[in-house]
Amino acid sequence: MDDDTLVKRLRRFYVLEAYQVDLYKSQLTSLEDPHIQHVFERFMVREQEHMDYLEQQLKEMGTGVGIAGPPFKLAGMVTGKALDLLSLKDRYKLGIAVEQKAIQMYHEFIETARNDPRLSDLSKYLAYFMVDEETHQFWFKEHLSRLEDTRA
Ligand SMILES: [Fe+2]
Ligand SMILES: [Fe+2]
Repeated sequence: MDDDTLVKRLRRFYVLEAYQVDLYKSQLTSLEDPHIQHVFERFMVREQEHMDYLEQQLKEMGTGVGIAGPPFKLAGMVTGKALDLLSLKDRYKLGIAVEQKAIQMYHEFIETARNDPRLSDLSKYLAYFMVDEETHQFWFKEHLSRLEDTRA
């Protein structure tokens, strides 16, 4: 993988991570259940770690995150007031969709980088991130199904 492609990929990852931070952060005040609030806080910290790592990688390559607008716009997703209008169920569904996007992008990268020894360290970290995203998604799926069970 050449450096230009790598920078582009890392920047795309960064945007989705920034969006995830934004997504979980913007819902904190409207969550009523303190347990769920803690979950979102914890998810947010994880996404922030992912963001920081990606930013550091780009710095080490002599460049930056190159963000030209709010992450939700760049990611083509909803945020802020629009989220307040969503039911908890729909927020979980959005969480599942966003996490799916993250899982997919990391998975694709790891597959592409498999035969490139230069990327093996980066790949390992992104694989860890993918596990985090899978965990987030699993939580949303589980809690969505609990909501669907109780309201059926
Ligand atoms: Fe993440
Ligand atoms: Fe996530």
